[in-house]
Amino acid sequence: MNLPYCEPYRIKTVESIRQSTRQEREEWIRNASYNLFNLRSEQVFIDLLTDSGTGAMSDRQWGAIMTGDESYAGASSYYTLKETIRDITGFEHFLPTHQGRAAENVLFSVLVKEGDVIPGNAHFDTTKGHIEFRKAKAVDCTVSYARDIEVIDPFKGNVDLERLEQVIRETPREKLGCIVMTVTNNTAGGQPVSMANLRGVRELADRYGVLVVMDSARFAENAYFIKRREEGYAGKSIREIVREMFSYADAMTMSSKKDAIVNMGGFIAMKDPELFRKASTFNIIFEGYITYGGMSGRDMNALAQGLREGTELDYLEARIGQVKRLGEKIHEAGIPVQLPIGGHAVFIDAGRFFPHIPASEFPAQRLAVEIYIEGGIRGTEIGTLLADRDPVTGENRYPELELVRLAIPRRVYTDNHMDYVAAAVQNVWERRDQVRRGFAIKWEAPIMRHFTVELELPG
Ligand code: F0G
Repeated sequence: MNLPYCEPYRIKTVESIRQSTRQEREEWIRNASYNLFNLRSEQVFIDLLTDSGTGAMSDRQWGAIMTGDESYAGASSYYTLKETIRDITGFEHFLPTHQGRAAENVLFSVLVKEGDVIPGNAHFDTTKGHIEFRKAKAVDCTVSYARDIEVIDPFKGNVDLERLEQVIRETPREKLGCIVMTVTNNTAGGQPVSMANLRGVRELADRYGVLVVMDSARFAENAYFIKRREEGYAGKSIREIVREMFSYADAMTMSSKKDAIVNMGGFIAMKDPELFRKASTFNIIFEGYITYGGMSGRDMNALAQGLREGTELDYLEARIGQVKRLGEKIHEAGIPVQLPIGGHAVFIDAGRFFPHIPASEFPAQRLAVEIYIEGGIRGTEIGTLLADRDPVTGENRYPELELVRLAIPRRVYTDNHMDYVAAAVQNVWERRDQVRRGFAIKWEAPIMRHFTVELELPG
């Protein structure tokens, strides 16, 4: 018999979480105006809001915290991290930042200006935000079949190279700030990008003289999928694959809160010393001096250790195996989910779960709330609420898919927790016909409304 995947660690410290009653949850979510962000964490039993900054650090990471060097300039922790980043990614230059979006802010201050076009696969919300804030345009060239949840393709995070070339051709060279490739493609459901696709992007970039930036939050999970799914990579180590992936980029931004398994932190890394010099100035203004940039020495130490642990095959096997296990349990119950299951989350298709609830009543939000009421599980809506209103017409923007994302923190929950989640989702599925309506908006902010929106049951 083939032995199953197994976590390459055992548990040394535990944190208690409390089950609540359905009645308590009904009251809490009503008082939270049916907005899951408004819940206190004690009101949540299993928190799948995000896999960002919610991972469990190892004893070695905690140990590294005690030996952090808090010198303002030239701390040994900075050099430890610099060497680790060079070793893992191949990039010579690096700047620490307090998280991923800060890395975007600093790098785009150099690379993106008003009127620019920034194509790539799907840009994450904050990446898009930093592009649009500079009055530039983010163009999503993800392969079209990524939007069909039932299409089984090993690399649904890929960019459509023909479409990308078309955008590059239509844009004057001086307006092409850079190409951004997000690995894995979070917006498309944590779907990976193939090495062939990254190579193809590099070829186009060289042909047209454009820089490639890799948004690398989940680069190790992407490397794992390449190893398991792409021809020619089965025999390569994760580290070799990671090095090759980054060899096709000029620079990277990193949210260390994901694949580097720390609770806070980020960085930028790049090849070109001139780009490093220019970005350094912005780093000093926005983040901090170039050898700490928004991070304490101890946190840089923990990050260096986390980068090593996060790129180990047995860890990735267990991590991605757990996400897949949850996704398959939900799928096997007949519930529509994004396929194949992505690296960090399971995406449930709320449009098909509640086909009788119109998009204007936020079916994915209703599903997320029902899953909370059922089992105290907090997921997040990725649908009409998140898509916000058109800034010009003020009308709701209706995305193609109404999804609920259950994002799995790293090394935090057991497979038993996942079975509990699958059972709760299944219970909601069984009573789906009784849920007749979605929500109406009581109050909303002019932008980024999903974080603070107040909802009510329609009259
Ligand atoms: N890029 C990607 C692909 C991300 O998923 C995120 C964050 C960021 C950049 C920004 O990084 O949060 O450190 O500033 N994603 C989180 C999520 C918030 O829940 O998917 P950050």
